[in-house]
Amino acid sequence: MVEKNLDFRSDTVTRPTPEMRDAMYNAELGDDVYGDDPTVNELERLSAEILGKEAGVFVTSGTQGNACAILALTSRGDEIILERRSHIYNNEVGGLAVMGQLMPRTIIGDEGWMRPEDLRNELRPWNIHYPDTSLVCVENTHNSAGGVPLTASQMKSNWDISKEHELNLHLDGARIFNASVALGVDVKELTQYADTIQFCLSKGLSAPVGSVVVGPKDIVEKARKYRKMLGGGMRQAGVIAAPGIVALKTMIDRLSEDHDNAKLLSDGLEELGFKILFPVRTNMTYIDYSVIGWTAQDFIQNCEKLGWKARARGNSTRLCTHYGIEREDIESFLEGLKKLI
Ligand SMILES: Cc1ncc(COP(=O)(O)O)c(C=O)c1O
Repeated sequence: MVEKNLDFRSDTVTRPTPEMRDAMYNAELGDDVYGDDPTVNELERLSAEILGKEAGVFVTSGTQGNACAILALTSRGDEIILERRSHIYNNEVGGLAVMGQLMPRTIIGDEGWMRPEDLRNELRPWNIHYPDTSLVCVENTHNSAGGVPLTASQMKSNWDISKEHELNLHLDGARIFNASVALGVDVKELTQYADTIQFCLSKGLSAPVGSVVVGPKDIVEKARKYRKMLGGGMRQAGVIAAPGIVALKTMIDRLSEDHDNAKLLSDGLEELGFKILFPVRTNMTYIDYSVIGWTAQDFIQNCEKLGWKARARGNSTRLCTHYGIEREDIESFLEGLKKLI
């Protein structure tokens, strides 16, 4: 029996499965700062293996993972290239400026993808007036472009240009498994086009805490040191790494259910007159409710009446589907909403 979790706000709200709770209770522990927590070591090894990289480091969050990887790949004053709506640029508290003293240079993407011609244009040749460019960041799935899965060939195009310019490429793969499942490819097909990847265990994969950064051994060891600097050196962290291992072993394939449910939700909301802002590709449905005369408060309150949590701002919102929401929940939500309208 899946524990119900009628909450559209994000896939971060997912709670651990019974198997994860057992794994937490029974986890073999050590002190991870000394490198001897066997459960953390296993999570890091497994993550690197699945994503096709040499090594991994378990971090507290996606934000911390992106920060550690970026700090490991750049030097103070460097320019880094990001997509304009990317999470790193917009939603990580300006960490790249504060901690890395980095200059962001942004590109407006095509559904989250930086077109080769735009990327080439923004990569300036050496000049005494310019900061040095050292890193390109890509996000897959791209959250604020609508949960868009970038294809292997889109990833490759950014990778090839980065390598032509001798730049590293960091992938914010918070939801990289949503991308691989939606595209029907092995995740390595996508991650081969990144030097480092941060992916989240605590989103659609439903583990309670944490992300992993994977990449070349020397870079991961640098990232590990930055994790310590940022206060992320954890001790008996096997307690939270154990559900991460269960997540990787049991929760990837089921992401397709979330994608199907997001599509069902989007089709139903469209029938009810809401405007769908992006075609649904993964587990996110973006809508505009102002077209039926509702405010953000109306939308949130009507969801509450039906037993759902939602968030909304201005004229639009993002609804996330995840573990704890099943097909019949979406169907009864849509029926309830129809009556309220
Ligand atoms: C694309 C993307 N990257 C990174 C993060 C940051 O993850 P966390 O909330 O664990 O810091 C998020 C969080 O929603 C995200 O959507």
